[in-house]
Amino acid sequence: MRTTIRLAMLAVLATLPAMAQPSAPAPTVDVAIDTNAPGAVIDRHIYGQFAEHLGRGIYGGIWVGPNSKIPNIHGYRKDVVAALKAIHVPVVRWPGGCFADNYDWRDGIGPRAKRPVRINVNWGDVTEDNSFGTHEYMDLMELLGADAYVSVNVGSMTPLDAQRWIEYITSDQNATLANERRKNGRQKPWNLKYIGIGNETWGCGGNMSAEVAASNNARYTGYIRTPAAMGTIKVASGASGNLGDDTAFAETLLKDGGRIQALSYHYYAMPATRGPKGPATGFGEDKWAQELSLAVKMEDLVRGQIAVMDKIDPQKRIALYVDEWGSWYDQEPGSHPGFLYQQNTIRDAEVAALTLNIFHRHTDRIKLAAIAQMVNVLQAMILTDKEKMILTPTYHIFDMYQPFMEATPYKATVSNATYTYGDTKLPLIDVSAARGKDGKLYLAIVNTDPHRAVSVRTNLAGSASGRILAGATMDAHNSFTAPNAVHPVPFSGASENGKLVFHMPAMAVAVVAVN
Ligand code: AHR
Repeated sequence: MRTTIRLAMLAVLATLPAMAQPSAPAPTVDVAIDTNAPGAVIDRHIYGQFAEHLGRGIYGGIWVGPNSKIPNIHGYRKDVVAALKAIHVPVVRWPGGCFADNYDWRDGIGPRAKRPVRINVNWGDVTEDNSFGTHEYMDLMELLGADAYVSVNVGSMTPLDAQRWIEYITSDQNATLANERRKNGRQKPWNLKYIGIGNETWGCGGNMSAEVAASNNARYTGYIRTPAAMGTIKVASGASGNLGDDTAFAETLLKDGGRIQALSYHYYAMPATRGPKGPATGFGEDKWAQELSLAVKMEDLVRGQIAVMDKIDPQKRIALYVDEWGSWYDQEPGSHPGFLYQQNTIRDAEVAALTLNIFHRHTDRIKLAAIAQMVNVLQAMILTDKEKMILTPTYHIFDMYQPFMEATPYKATVSNATYTYGDTKLPLIDVSAARGKDGKLYLAIVNTDPHRAVSVRTNLAGSASGRILAGATMDAHNSFTAPNAVHPVPFSGASENGKLVFHMPAMAVAVVAVN
């Protein structure tokens, strides 16, 4: 009889995902949401994307050309466009990245068959046929309903080249460049919301010292003009959290960089800047803990940038744009060298959720962010293999977090509880709270522990429902043979002793609306 019961219990446990089999009793963590202290509205542009001419990010990932057998809309993959529309991508930064400072915009206009073929020297030395250029990018932005963010070449081209590109895109006058655009098929100017003044000027964008980068920014910014009514924002290319002292670079730019409306910042949750970084799947708990601790480091890094900005710009006129961020591992074995193609797991979903929660806590400065990169590169939303497409766990986080776009954030104080692995200590639970545009209170809850379920007890009453994303293993992911292995499922909170409580499984992210 006892054997029968034990066998029955084992059978039940076997049907549960691994994360639901607690190795210790679920601890309780308290969360207090202060609805009396609203922060600045969460700008929807923090949910932005980065798409560079790198690997299969553009070619094959977004653009297949109008003659492809893969179903497409004037050359854009139908499946990818539909998936991106569903998450209401607010902005896409293009064409790089390091590629931007090797890019001559003239290569990417005019009849496609006549465009020059160049070598992509940054990314795998492959040929670039320029079939995706200015018209293809700007039209894609209109198709997606996203704002355009063009990074101009300040490393290897002149301010005049940059100005002429911008005039080509934005002028409605009877002038040579606007007429050339018309001849190439576009009558009206496009709306250009953001111009990046270079990219990583301290590195692949020109190897400049902070002083040179600052004077360069002042110079290019002075020449590049758009029609005033367009309200285009020029973005100074800022520092990187993956380098040493990044605040000094930012300070020099802010002081000597001319008129600055926004300052960019890059930071990758990258286990090593040189040499092996570790695989995207098939890793141990050491790598789980390390990667999440690298992700939460973003909070201190942006605080450092914000402290400098507060000193120089106390009126908070200048915004901080984290326009490259995400996880960066060894690329998938067998993929083309230099293509930065990596799988994406529940670990990356946690990286995304923890990072977005950090951005929600600094909305007075952070007005835009762009995850690297949108399709097939680094921490991608979408992976494609010829005609096949899968949505990654990171895509699901961006989908679940949509109610936070333009929501008003509240302070959420989480009682002190940690997830510990070796010397690495992380907040066990991370919470973001905000009042959505629909008037509902939304919570995003992250459990960082890969083994323990946690009871999250709030100071709120009532009920709540939404969706949860969890993994059966630390590297749970979607593949072309199992495209739906990781996907959000319904989730709700329970009222216990008058308090709204969430029973969070291990390694899970939930987004709920409180009723
Ligand atoms: O996203 C890949 C590369 O990372 C970008 O080209 C560059 O800006 C950064 O170093």
